[in-house]
Amino acid sequence: MKDSFGREITYLRVSVTQRCNLNCVYCGKSDCAKKETELSPETTEKLVRAFAGCGIRKVRVTGGEPLVRSDICEIVRRIRSIDGIETLALTTNGVYLARYARELKSAGLDSVNISLDSTDGSTYRHLTGADVLKKVLEGIDEAERAGISPVKINAVLMKGVNSDGAGELINLARSRKIDVRFIELMPFSDEGENSSLIVTGDEILREFPFLKPAEAEEGTAKYYSAEGFKGRVGLINPITHKFCSSCNRIRLLSDGSVKPCLGYDTAYDILQFIDDESRLREEVKNIILKKPAGHSFGSSDAGHGLNRTGG
Ligand code: 5AD
Repeated sequence: MKDSFGREITYLRVSVTQRCNLNCVYCGKSDCAKKETELSPETTEKLVRAFAGCGIRKVRVTGGEPLVRSDICEIVRRIRSIDGIETLALTTNGVYLARYARELKSAGLDSVNISLDSTDGSTYRHLTGADVLKKVLEGIDEAERAGISPVKINAVLMKGVNSDGAGELINLARSRKIDVRFIELMPFSDEGENSSLIVTGDEILREFPFLKPAEAEEGTAKYYSAEGFKGRVGLINPITHKFCSSCNRIRLLSDGSVKPCLGYDTAYDILQFIDDESRLREEVKNIILKKPAGHSFGSSDAGHGLNRTGG
């Protein structure tokens, strides 16, 4: 269905937990180990079904870190079973991906995005608080082997922190059929609020002039390729090129509330309607109609840490 600004809302991001096994500097969460209410796979399925009834075609499972849930494959399997859901993706930090890749694939997962901000062990540890780079790299290999496709990498560059590793990340797209996407730092934590750390998409293009525009934009990313590259480089520029006017997404949080825009704290509870299918669908429609025109990064109500929303 269309929202009140004429945008067709077809993409639901489902945060299945706020918990995370990493503590990334830009994420803005205060307590990673915190246990809170999480929806059961059954409840998640019921809620997602209501969204599918309102025109959602693509679902991305996020967190927190979705693979800290031991029932993650069951969640994926149930979402996969919903009529109307054409694409099912998941975003993970990759630490447990080697363990789950095959099972996720057979549960019906199509594609995976893996957050990887540096290929240097000590920079990775500094950024995430954990010495697990090797596991993440194994996770990427295993996802490819399991036939999950596409496999994409998300990286957030920060000046003077990990920006000098951009070339190495780009090399992954050179040597493998992997898309490496750079996301401009958004203001979710003290680091994120520090706009002098932002590496813009344009700065990346200036530093790597061999990147040439590939095909048209896909969702929020503009893709670039280069001579001899197996994969592509994507630039996601929420700060310097706001894409709100073509935003097609809505977010279900792990407590059963719905957040129409990443840029605002506002979230609406729908769990109270779980046992009334038609009411649930009505509520989802009403919330889609409340989606604001654009994000408010830079103002005071700029939103939660990403552990609640999963980006
Ligand atoms: N700015 C930009 N991207 C972020 N992510 C997490 N925090 C931020 C931030 N402050 C990215 C992660 C992950 C995706 C879900 O969001 O790298 O890949």
